[in-house]
Amino acid sequence: MGNVFVFDHPLIQHKLTYIRDKNTGTKEFRELVDEVAMLMAFEITRDLPLKEVEVETPVMVSKSKQLAGKKIGLVPILRAGLGMVDGVRKLIPAAKVGHVGLYRDPETLKPVEYYIKLPSDIQERELIVIDPMLATGGSANDAIASLKKRGAKNIRLMCLIAAPEGVEVIKEAHPDVDIYLAAMDEKLDDHGYIVPGLGDAGDRLFGTK
Ligand code: PRP
Ligand code: URA
Repeated sequence: MGNVFVFDHPLIQHKLTYIRDKNTGTKEFRELVDEVAMLMAFEITRDLPLKEVEVETPVMVSKSKQLAGKKIGLVPILRAGLGMVDGVRKLIPAAKVGHVGLYRDPETLKPVEYYIKLPSDIQERELIVIDPMLATGGSANDAIASLKKRGAKNIRLMCLIAAPEGVEVIKEAHPDVDIYLAAMDEKLDDHGYIVPGLGDAGDRLFGTK
């Protein structure tokens, strides 16, 4: 079974409170999502392999550590996933970025895929699927299945807020995928919104209604 990690770092939790607040406007919301994504990237990359290298300091030649060159790919789910990409890229600038376009049909709540563009070497990359919201799990489930169909082997899922229902869907369908969250909320409401959640992530990021 995939592991579920909820990051309890005080800065992540503090910023998430303002992200949830309905009185937080678009500009501040976007900035906070960007900052939390960066902080989460710091935690998610904890297990990246290192290699020993030599470095010449002004004082002497010394042994030191460098990332061992693991190739990373970021895959935001459009639209709302875009709001987290730059934050992650601040820490992993060499990551390539693929895009999966999915929207959730408001009646059926089923995801509809409308776009996909991925780096050509996804099978060699450690992929991080990015979406602020894991609600019914339909969108992330489809995005991950789409990546696997195209050869992806190592996938992680990074979301700000999840409902238990969505986490169960991913654990069941993709037991190889670890899930990283800033918060696990209570439940879904009758419209498939996360409770207490933050409302509609895409609308709040992009100022649409
Ligand atoms: C939101 C969110 C997820 C999805 C989660 O996207 O960003 O992709 O819903 O819901 P699920 O787990 O029930 O599938 P939405 O469909 O609103 O599209 P948008 O990002 O374009 O606004
Ligand atoms: N999508 C959102 O943007 N918010 C939710 O609470 C659920 C799905």
